[in-house]
Formats: sequence, structure tokens, C-alpha cells
Amino acid sequence: MSSIKIEPILKQVTPVLPDGLGFGRHFTGRMFSQRFTEAEGWSEPAIGPYENLVLNPAAAALHCGQMVFDGTKAYRRSDGDLNLFRAERNCERFNRSAERMGMPPVDVALHFDAIEMLVALEHRWVPDVDAGSLYVRPVMIATEPVLEVRASREYLHYIILSPVGPYFPDGFNPVSVYVSHDQVRAVRGGTGEAKTPGNYAASIAVSEAARKRGCQQVLWLDAVERRYVDEVGAMNIAFVYGDNEIRTPPLSGAILHGITRDSVLKLAPDLGYEISETPLKIDDVMRDIQNGDITEAFGMGTAAVIAPVGRLVMLDKEVTLNDNRTGPVAQRLFDQLTGIQYGRIDDPYAWTSRVNIDRRDAAVATS
Ligand SMILES: Cc1ncc(COP(=O)(O)O)c(C=O)c1O
Repeated sequence: MSSIKIEPILKQVTPVLPDGLGFGRHFTGRMFSQRFTEAEGWSEPAIGPYENLVLNPAAAALHCGQMVFDGTKAYRRSDGDLNLFRAERNCERFNRSAERMGMPPVDVALHFDAIEMLVALEHRWVPDVDAGSLYVRPVMIATEPVLEVRASREYLHYIILSPVGPYFPDGFNPVSVYVSHDQVRAVRGGTGEAKTPGNYAASIAVSEAARKRGCQQVLWLDAVERRYVDEVGAMNIAFVYGDNEIRTPPLSGAILHGITRDSVLKLAPDLGYEISETPLKIDDVMRDIQNGDITEAFGMGTAAVIAPVGRLVMLDKEVTLNDNRTGPVAQRLFDQLTGIQYGRIDDPYAWTSRVNIDRRDAAVATS
């Protein structure tokens, strides 16, 4: 029996999902939350109505940025059931981020339970197979009203859900990527491995520069030498040499331990590709694209799954990959991963878990 209390919501909203869902613009009717105090630890885990937060203007999160978040997805299977994809791993990463930011861990089993129960309750909001998926966004923020720079003694952990379409408006089509040659995102020993909002705030000014050059994503270089490829705004990145060899930068301490990246590392050899974690110099990458040794590049992340890269722009140089078309490797990995996520093909890795239908029915009956 779960310790999560399900509070009634006043009005059961029937979801009306617009055709162009976009990404992260619509939110379901319920949310999970629990609070932490130093004296009592975590308490009162509950699922209740989705509502505005009431925060003291001095809440530490708003001043020191002591916050973490994560993102995973629920997928509608063709039999109508729902799949979660590697959600436990996501819960574990949430705690690693929290630890880096000096925040208390949450109970992984409870966190997973909260995701499953919330998704079960909100099952009507999961888009149909071809329309998208339900993005799950867990967050933890420091709520103690204190301006001193130190760990907060109070926290709020909450989870919200957003029915989403493709991350990029053009769907599964090549994106253009702008290499940030001067600004950096994260340094080894810094917070790059944590999913904390400051990393993303630091990327916004360059994203504007990227947009002006017709690019949707920024590629970050290592912060020390500014020569090695780190990752892309919301994705890890990989390059395809010839038709069979995939190289992706190693987890250097400055980039996120991407769950999609980890999945590709496991999946690619089973599809007959060679894959390695190799430091990649940006000058070599630009050269190898130009001379044809690199045939494709793609981003890997929960939001876009696999995003083919069609153009790379750095200072006054610009190179095109595979004639700005989706390449066969990106296509195959996309088909395989989404096939597993939506339950269209077998999942030999046990990455998916079905949302418990009995529980869904019981939960709906109480609301
Ligand atoms: C900076 C960054 N890198 C990589 C990723 C990909 O990680 P995952 O595959 O776990 O979504 C994300 C997305 O969460 C991200 O924000």
C-alpha cells in the first residue's frame, strides 16, 4: 500500500489536446508534492490538484538557485496501455543532482511510485501513439526563507505532467547546431553533471546568437581548452564515422549522464554498429565532416529521442551533414528506441515498465 495520499480534485477536466501540442506548454490537472524540513524529513506525500505554488519571496531557490529537476516520459502503447521508459534510472539521477546541489535525497521507490500513480491517474492525458507522449517533470526547490548562502533547511519536491508533441517544431528532421566558441556551460567539478536550472540559464544568451544563425541548438565545448566537444543544449551528441562507427564524448564530469545516450551505447552494438566513448576535438570534427569521414551526427535525449544534425555552424565556418537529410544510422536508432518505448517491438533490455492498470482504475474510482 502506497503512502501517497490521493486528494480529490474539484473538477475532473476532460483533456482536449490541440493538434500542434508543442513541447511543455500544456499541463494536466494533478500534481504530486511532498515537503521536507530538517526536523521531520520528507512528509505528506500527496497527489492533488495542479495549482500555483505559494512561495515566500525570500525562498532560497529564488536567490541561490538551489533547485534540481529531471525529465522522463510515459508512452501510449498500441494496446492502449502505458509504458514508462527507464524511470527508475531517472529517479536515481534526480538524487545525484540533489546531492551535488547540497539537497536531501528523496526515497527512490516513493519517487517512482509517485510518477507511476500520477501517470495512472492522468492516463487520459497521454497522447495517442502518433501524436506524442506524456513528459514527466520532477522538481525539487529550496523553500526556506533565508538570504544567507547555505543549504536550505526546507524543500518542496513536486512532479508535474505535460502532454507533448515533438521537441523540435519540424519533428524528426535534421536540426542546425551552433558551436559556442566563447561562452561555456559547465566545467569539470562544476554542476554540469547535475540537472540544475543554472546550467540552462547559462545557455540562454548563446541560444539567441544561435537562433540568429538559423540554429536550434548550441554545441558546448569543454570549458578549459575549448577544443573538445561536450554536449548539446538538451542532448548528448554522437558522430558517425563511415557507415558503421559511432563516437560520443566520454562522461567527462561536465556533461549530463544522459539516459538516452546510455541506451544508445547498449543498443548500437546489438544493431551491428561499433560505438565508443572518445574525446572529440571540434577542429577534427569540422574537418572530418568536410572531408566526408563523418557521415552523420545526432543528438540523444528524452525530449527529442534521436535528433539528426544537418548543419554545424562555428564562427564563419559552416558544414553540412548528409545533405541536411536524416541519415540511416539516426533513423535506425530512432526507430529502434521509439519502437521499444511505444511497445511496438520487444524490449530485451527490460527498460520499459507498464503503468499498473488495476491501480489506475482504483485511483480513478477515488477521484
Ligand atoms: C544538458 C543535457 N544533456 C543531455 C540530456 C539528455 O539526457 P536524457 O537522455 O537522460 O534525457 C539532457 C536532457 O535531459 C540535457 O538537459
